Amino acid sequence: MSTWAAAADLVVVGSGVAGLSAAAEASRRGLRVVVVTKDAPDEGSTRWAQGGIAVVLGDIVGDTVDAHVADTLAAGGGLVDEAATRDLLGSGRAAVQDLRSRGALFDSTGPRLSRTREGGHGTTRVIHAGGDATGAEVERALLAALPGEVTVLSGHTAVAVVRDRTRVSGLEVVDDAGRLGTVAAPAVLLATGGIGGLYETSTNPAVATADGWALALGAGAALADVEFVQFHPTALHVPGLVGRAPLVTEALRGEGAHLVELSGRGVMDDVDPRGDLAPRDVVAGAITAVLARTGADHVLLDATGVPDVRRRFPTVAASCDAIGVDLAREPIPVRPAQHYACGGVVTDTTGRTGVPGLWAAGEVARTGLHGANRLASNSLLEGLVVGRRAGVDVAAALAGPRPVLVAGEPVVGTVPAADRATLQRAMSRGAAVGRDAAGLAATSDVIEAATSPRALDTRAAVEDAALTLAAGAVLAAAGWRTESRGCHLRSDFPRRDDRWQGTSIAVTLDDGALHVAPLDTALGGAA
Ligand code: SIN
Repeated sequence: MSTWAAAADLVVVGSGVAGLSAAAEASRRGLRVVVVTKDAPDEGSTRWAQGGIAVVLGDIVGDTVDAHVADTLAAGGGLVDEAATRDLLGSGRAAVQDLRSRGALFDSTGPRLSRTREGGHGTTRVIHAGGDATGAEVERALLAALPGEVTVLSGHTAVAVVRDRTRVSGLEVVDDAGRLGTVAAPAVLLATGGIGGLYETSTNPAVATADGWALALGAGAALADVEFVQFHPTALHVPGLVGRAPLVTEALRGEGAHLVELSGRGVMDDVDPRGDLAPRDVVAGAITAVLARTGADHVLLDATGVPDVRRRFPTVAASCDAIGVDLAREPIPVRPAQHYACGGVVTDTTGRTGVPGLWAAGEVARTGLHGANRLASNSLLEGLVVGRRAGVDVAAALAGPRPVLVAGEPVVGTVPAADRATLQRAMSRGAAVGRDAAGLAATSDVIEAATSPRALDTRAAVEDAALTLAAGAVLAAAGWRTESRGCHLRSDFPRRDDRWQGTSIAVTLDDGALHVAPLDTALGGAA
């Protein structure tokens, strides 16, 4: 039985770029908004984003939204939804202008915003802040501009979306003291970020434990494209590290840094004509191949030729200093680490899922922008655009007669949850870059053997259960897709297969079991 109860018009789960953007828009339209967040509000993935925001502002001669769309389509391996992409990228300029008007400060050269370039971009269109601290500035500005009427519940973990047969009616939550509660609300927005906790090392912070995927599946929504787990090519290599690996931003390569093997040979030599600025899946695949061929545990990123590198990249410089590497004088040890979920909860470009009353935005969601491999720095933009739209859409949806909410009962009983360290080890071995049928099956077996029923009465239990369900979803979709495409690289099916062209795989939950089907088929059933 719940020990406390609250009510709101909109409950937002997560306090990164998408969640805060939605909360602000909904609050400005008069809605009572509650933001539920597991840790301190700025502890999500947004704060750790480095490179920047890819956006066409109209002040770079020759750059157009069409060109940005073309780069996004090319990076996404044939699975990007072109209409959604045109819509989202075309709205980027207004979203960035709005963010600036609310106090976000981006780096500039004279009157114009500075730009950098990252892998897969045909031009320098990525704006940045604090050199390589773009996410931190976005998070700071959004928190500072959050209307005072928004209630932020820090130290609260979402346990389950409450719904009846027709729609969502609230959110069940557990606080850090173990008290269960329910926030009754006709609208819930999932903005929980990523799934980094599925792997031993990730550039994501500790809060990224796939909670939103589990909440959405439990509420009856569909996931799609979840086999496309993006590994960033250049996380700082810290021997023995488990947990958040410091990111070494791709923008360093945009400014001239060069990837080399320990022997000094260029990693991207003879791999791709775009060299160090090939899309992320290509570079991560090339580094993984080098590590397998040479037996080394890292490669090197030589940034010694980047002008004024310590001032331009202070965050990376500090991470390097912490392991005794001066990036201005010596190469940086790097290796791939899990970075981003290209797939997620299926939504339209306003964040609506197929479940009435449930929205999702940001990394947790799948709008079709990323396809099989996200283009660098498209994620903050997507979070901004869809987050704002979701806030507006919820307000519009609640403007008419309010739905009658049926009080939900708290979640009772137990759910399967695996031992986290075992799960992370197994996923890192069998479901990272370079997978095959035998490895995926072995990973499932190891996780299943480490799984037992747990009550969802603590943050750790909720996270473990979410990771277990999410691992099942990734393994099921990765096993289904018998080809290599984007960041889904299979060693037993090393080439792209045209029979999969245009086909996204959906995962749904029915009676406790995951089901996999082509997205087109699954959508009807999921709603
Ligand atoms: C980076 O700065 O390299 C990461 C940017 C991104 O993930 O889009």
